[in-house]
Amino acid sequence: MSRRVAILISGGGSNMLALARSMTGDHPARPCLVLSNDPEAAGLAKAAALGIPTAAVDHRPFKGDRAAFEAALLPHLEAARPDIIALAGFMRVLTPDFVARFEGRMLNIHPSLLPKYPGLDTHARALAAGDAEAGCSVHVVTPDLDSGPVLGQARVPVLPGDTPESLAARVLKQEHVLYPAVLRRFAAGDRRPVLLAG
Ligand code: GRF
Repeated sequence: MSRRVAILISGGGSNMLALARSMTGDHPARPCLVLSNDPEAAGLAKAAALGIPTAAVDHRPFKGDRAAFEAALLPHLEAARPDIIALAGFMRVLTPDFVARFEGRMLNIHPSLLPKYPGLDTHARALAAGDAEAGCSVHVVTPDLDSGPVLGQARVPVLPGDTPESLAARVLKQEHVLYPAVLRRFAAGDRRPVLLAG
């Protein structure tokens, strides 16, 4: 019985595509929904083109009422019956109540080597600190932002002349390798960490 994976996005969905394309053959999971907080998210059309059910709940009318926005997400998620939720470029902070509802089965990919640089502007912060390497982490989502158990990391070198944009592009390529590898192990119940050096 394959595990059902709902993927939450906010934009282009390149991580969603990498995850969706990886869930084939003997992979223990299949995508059951791609859900966005932005009805215009380009990733929605890409998911639909792959035959994955999609839905969108515009967060803006809720004017910062996170609980009300999340309550509007729930019917879509309940209908899709996900075993796992994968946040993939999902740019909304979730309330502890929502996280608790999916505790232990909601993953996120963050573009830094956690615990370094939780939050935003991770690449600019790594460059400003003069770090020799950067990367991305997949972690279990817990109520505290970007701080749950790390299930995998991919490291990339910081190169001379790197800008936040050039570093982001190098890290993003590794995100597309790391997240599918972690999801496959997670869906199979294998909690060994995935450690990649890009
Ligand atoms: C990227 O900045 C990535 O580092 C982070 O989410 C952003 C958008 O990713 N995980 P995607 O292309 O929408 O998956």
